[in-house]
Amino acid sequence: MTEHQFIPNPDNYRDIAKTLESGKVTWESPSNIALVKYWGKKKGQIPENPSISFTLTDCKTITTLYFSKKENDKEFSFEVFLDGEKKDDFKPKIETFFKRIELYLPFLKDYHFKIETTNTFPHSSGIASSASGMSALALCLMSLEKQLIDNIDENYFNKKASFLARLGSGSACRSIEGDLVVWGKHENIAGSNDLFGIKYPYKIHKNFKNYQDTILLVDKGEKQVSSTVGHNLMYNHPFAQERFKQAHNNLNALMGILESGNLNAFIELVESEALTLHAMMMTSMPYFILMKPNTLEIINKIWAFRKATGLHIGFTLDAGANVHVLYPENESAPILEFINNELVAYIENAHYIVDKIGFGAKQVVISINN
Ligand code: PMV
Repeated sequence: MTEHQFIPNPDNYRDIAKTLESGKVTWESPSNIALVKYWGKKKGQIPENPSISFTLTDCKTITTLYFSKKENDKEFSFEVFLDGEKKDDFKPKIETFFKRIELYLPFLKDYHFKIETTNTFPHSSGIASSASGMSALALCLMSLEKQLIDNIDENYFNKKASFLARLGSGSACRSIEGDLVVWGKHENIAGSNDLFGIKYPYKIHKNFKNYQDTILLVDKGEKQVSSTVGHNLMYNHPFAQERFKQAHNNLNALMGILESGNLNAFIELVESEALTLHAMMMTSMPYFILMKPNTLEIINKIWAFRKATGLHIGFTLDAGANVHVLYPENESAPILEFINNELVAYIENAHYIVDKIGFGAKQVVISINN
């Protein structure tokens, strides 16, 4: 599998592409939470190890891309709005994204774009908006490509959307589809590859149907260390090679767990992955810690509650202080009661988000003026 499959034929692209004057397209795209984590990458946003995530349902970005044909096709032209407010500080990231994907979308300089975006989760909640945001933008651009060139089927559309989203933010490539998505080559997962995410292709036990993820917002501040910096610190990391091997083994073990529905084994593997991610941060040079005291308080409370009740409550973490509390749907009532009674004391303004496993992005609107 190579990236060449996503480069339109330069010899006839200009002849077959239609001319569209203006229009708009809206996509909503969810966030995702990794079970086996991606941490460490090679040049060109290629992951050092395969990862797998639950796609979420309610934590999502809604993006409308307005496009209008322009005369000068020498440079990118776009403006960005978040919740109706112009955001010039988002422009460098999008400019970098456009530069990376220009080869694959040759029409980018033919249009002026207005990108309007909003998140369902609060801004600076510590929930990364890059996965949902970059996947929503990639999908809008793919919808435009589909209008310009006729023969794009759904399979190619999703693959290329994921491929483009990856070039915006690695984990964004896992937000196009659901319910479980694998990204990165794993020898036992057919079709898995480093260029784009694929829907997990094997049987998933009913225990994981509607699996719940309640996100406890421990710290809403800006992260002190970005994931870009964190990934780069894996280059000279003393434990990197072992970690990458472990991720392959964990994904292999998770395949068996997803089939058998063994929730205890699931919790053990997922919690170990979360703590390993943070252990990598703590053992980088320079080292850093993204967990907060309340992250640890919550983890200890979860362990004590699990021991006392036998309920299948577990946690995972992303690159921040927030705790994702994971549990099967049929145990929701007592676990939500526990969160309300015992965990809200450790979260900012008692703010948490009840979410669950979801099925990927949706196109909301498209309209074209020829
Ligand atoms: O997509 P990035 O570059 O922001 O990296 C995300 C990395 C983690 O969220 C920590 C793990 C993952 O696999 O999503």
